[in-house]
Amino acid sequence: MTRITVLGSTNMDLVAYVTTAPRSGETVTGHEFRTIPGGKGANQAVAAARAGAEVAMIGAVGTDDFGRRLRATLEGSGVDIDLLRTTEGPTGTAHIVVDRDGANSIVVIPGANGSVTSLSHADRAVIAEARSLLLQLELPMSAVLEGAEVARRNGVRTILTPAPAQPLPSQLLAATDLLVPNEHEAATLTGISGDPQRAAEALLAQVPEVVITLGARGCLYASRAQSEPVAVLAPPVTAVDTTGAGDTFVGALAVALAEGRPMIDALTWASSAAALSVQRAGAATSMPYRGEIDA
Ligand code: RIB
Ligand code: NA
Repeated sequence: MTRITVLGSTNMDLVAYVTTAPRSGETVTGHEFRTIPGGKGANQAVAAARAGAEVAMIGAVGTDDFGRRLRATLEGSGVDIDLLRTTEGPTGTAHIVVDRDGANSIVVIPGANGSVTSLSHADRAVIAEARSLLLQLELPMSAVLEGAEVARRNGVRTILTPAPAQPLPSQLLAATDLLVPNEHEAATLTGISGDPQRAAEALLAQVPEVVITLGARGCLYASRAQSEPVAVLAPPVTAVDTTGAGDTFVGALAVALAEGRPMIDALTWASSAAALSVQRAGAATSMPYRGEIDA
């Protein structure tokens, strides 16, 4: 099995299901509340493990019940959590509103994630041994940068999800092999909105390969090694909850690439994984296993 390391967040998702999300100053009555394991890092770890890789997760949970549940979820999906710290205080939480189209808006309170400011010797060793390192932006930037640089020095492929959207330090971009923003994040990084093709081309000035995820419209792949971006369509499905769909996509993509599959095949397979996840509620709990993706 291929080895993948994830350096990222673990959050408990506190999800309110509503018909229409409230605007500022408005109160609406929803129809359901759930607590579901999430966090972009944990989601990508679960997605990659279920897609068939051997996955190690570096991050932190708090000393509360949410932390215990998140550990159990990660372990239950086969993720190695030896390097998942437990720090005094609350686990990260994500306050999520999901509307009738499955679209969401999210407020994240970092909690324990904020304590991961640097890496241990063991963290660096596990990164150096992996095929690829998956990164997002829900841990302190100092740790993200350190992880990316360790990976780069050891020839480990770095796959960065630049979320939550924010401008990126140039050292991080310099250590990124594959950048996977959604449209909104791509617009934040480039100042170009509504034109993913142009945004992808602009991002190639900073990183060698880019995949812009486009939700139900699939994704767009651009590489310095080819002249034109390539669109990959997503299978048409009815979404009930898109939370974590991007993370599912990245986790599955990383596995397919680590197994040496060609990029377009890998993107098609990852799109199937994401399409399966949006048809089920929640983030980590909605992620498909390898057999389901193949089918
Ligand atoms: O990408 C989805 C994730 O973002 C959610 O699970 C939530 O925890 C936030 O981190
Ligand atoms: Na889902």
